[in-house]
Amino acid sequence: MKLTLEEQGMLDGKYGKSTKKSMEILNTLGEIFGAECMVDVVGVQIAGVSYANLGEAGLEFLNEMAEDGKVRVLTTLNPAGMDRENWQALGIDEEFAKNQNRAIDAFAKMGIITTCSCTPYLIGNTPHFGQHLAWAESSAVCYSNSVIGARTNREGGPSALASALTGRTPKYGYHLEKNRHGQVLVKLNAPIKGTDEFGVLGKLIGDKLVELEKKIPYITGISMATVEELKSFCASVATYGGVALFHMEGITPEYTKYPLPSDIVFEINHDDLEKTRAELIDDDIEIDFVSLGCPHASIHEIAEIARLLEGVKVKKEFWITTARPTKRIANEAGYSKIIEDAGAKFAADTCCVVAPIKGRFKGIMVDSAKACYYGRAKNKFKVKIGTIEECVKEAIK
Ligand code: F3S
Repeated sequence: MKLTLEEQGMLDGKYGKSTKKSMEILNTLGEIFGAECMVDVVGVQIAGVSYANLGEAGLEFLNEMAEDGKVRVLTTLNPAGMDRENWQALGIDEEFAKNQNRAIDAFAKMGIITTCSCTPYLIGNTPHFGQHLAWAESSAVCYSNSVIGARTNREGGPSALASALTGRTPKYGYHLEKNRHGQVLVKLNAPIKGTDEFGVLGKLIGDKLVELEKKIPYITGISMATVEELKSFCASVATYGGVALFHMEGITPEYTKYPLPSDIVFEINHDDLEKTRAELIDDDIEIDFVSLGCPHASIHEIAEIARLLEGVKVKKEFWITTARPTKRIANEAGYSKIIEDAGAKFAADTCCVVAPIKGRFKGIMVDSAKACYYGRAKNKFKVKIGTIEECVKEAIK
């Protein structure tokens, strides 16, 4: 790999121990993936923040990097294992909370903004078209590449941190124009609407791409999509298909840039969507937990939830997972009061997947296909997908 003088200096230890270690990580990655050089990144988002993922070994690595490491670019965190202010109300045990805070303190010491959210693009870590990033959360990677037209590979925790401390990432994969062409033409022949339906579509396309061993769909047939629908689609297609980039005709910024793929064409009809939706509803489910905000709820979604909860009481555990800055806006707008008066709980900084709640509930209802996947696989819950309105109805039933 060809390094600049400054990058070589980092590798030689001229800028301290953590910068040296970071450049070693990035240089090795670059060699493995055949990168010719590094590229400057404007932002980093770090995943693997929950103490449940990090453990003591991860924490030790963080503390070591925090001895002299300081971030060079805007860096934020993925959700942690708990709401940093409201963890007791969510049933998180004290030992876990203590360890989670130790991890967040280590990130803070390096100058990382400890906003723990999988939607950094909604809260200020917001790139624009063509900028290079080193992001780690799969749904956010997919959103930034596809919806914004920025460029990032899906980083692991250590490589994202290394990019934060150096401001660089090896230039390979989705940083290169030649790797951003659509590979499979997906023709949608049915109207879709809502975060749940976009999640269902993401699963359908993701499953098909795994079967075809392809990664970049070019989707036609969607006339309109909201930010919330796109974030749900990104989370789902990334979860089920490992997709980090898609093009959507008329909607995403690079759709005219590359030719329409013609070798492989995959058509989706209404019945296919219904069949896939049925796969996201478990038999004999007994719902005792409802969670909205996967990916983290936008202020628009919170306004909608408040509207639906006004004047009613929930009868089941009901979480709204969101970024803390979004919750602050909800407080100021009066939405939090309505939601909390109804008995629902905000779970800021965390979500129903990364919080340590395995086995605590029997069945979860969500509007997110990604939450269905991890609700089953990680937390051993039965799952049911529905619209936001159906989820609220279930919670108050
Ligand atoms: Fe975000 Fe948790 Fe869903 S990290 S995308 S809310 S699984």
